[in-house]
Amino acid sequence: MSCVLYLMVTVVFLAVITRVRGYSFKTCDLEEWSSCSKPLSGIMDSGLTYFSSKPDLDMLCPDLKEALRCIHAYTRLCMNLHRRKHFRKLFHDTNIMITELCSNSTFQEEYLKHASCMQSLQTQNQICFDKYAKDITSIQLETDQKVQIKEKVTPDQIVTYAKRKREAADMGIRSVCCSFQEYTSCSTRTVERSCGNEAAEFSKFFMERMSSAMIKNHCHDYTPEKCGILPSSSTSISSSLISLSAITFLSFLFR
Ligand SMILES: *[C@@H]1O[C@H](CO)[C@@H](O)[C@H](O)[C@H]1NC(C)=O
Repeated sequence: MSCVLYLMVTVVFLAVITRVRGYSFKTCDLEEWSSCSKPLSGIMDSGLTYFSSKPDLDMLCPDLKEALRCIHAYTRLCMNLHRRKHFRKLFHDTNIMITELCSNSTFQEEYLKHASCMQSLQTQNQICFDKYAKDITSIQLETDQKVQIKEKVTPDQIVTYAKRKREAADMGIRSVCCSFQEYTSCSTRTVERSCGNEAAEFSKFFMERMSSAMIKNHCHDYTPEKCGILPSSSTSISSSLISLSAITFLSFLFR
């Protein structure tokens, strides 16, 4: 994953051994972050194709809730107040959605009504997702290379360096947002085609809540039209599927 991310987390919070309610983080680095958020990646990356039955939900919900607690502890112990606020905002709706999915039986019924059809789309959605994941990885690499300090930066180079970094970040954001739009439209078309409008509506609702306020805020300038992607056939669907790696990446660009 992103070296920027890794560097950032490591440099700022290096070797702080911290502990809260049974959680402890030795390095606060990307690995610790990833192991916290791993259970969420699955659902965020594959959306409604992830669960298809009540037993699935019952089995996975403890892990999801655990992931939320772990992320909470991580932000508390590994981040300063400013970044913590930022991250909590980022995960606010995700928190609500996981709680609904795992604790509200009305919501679960609604979800499971569409889940089996959605699950049959796993392979098709995977094709959309693989392309997206590949794009995100290369955007991250590219952005990292551009913002890396190769030699020592002298004081008079700092302004240029900061400007270059800003530009690289802007390009990175544009690319992330457009890849994301492309994924969304690929995935939405798949759902509409095979499971019908109602399923697509539910998917849209779920994914919009799962996706962070952040993507909505920072990607609104990059509409499918601006990214050169054909909009979905149904105008009512503007669903935003979200991958954890993309929000993590974006959140670090906006640190
Ligand atoms: C449970 O989910 C239903 C359907 O989404 C919703 O209308 C209701 O407000 C939820 N109940 C609670 C207690 O959040």
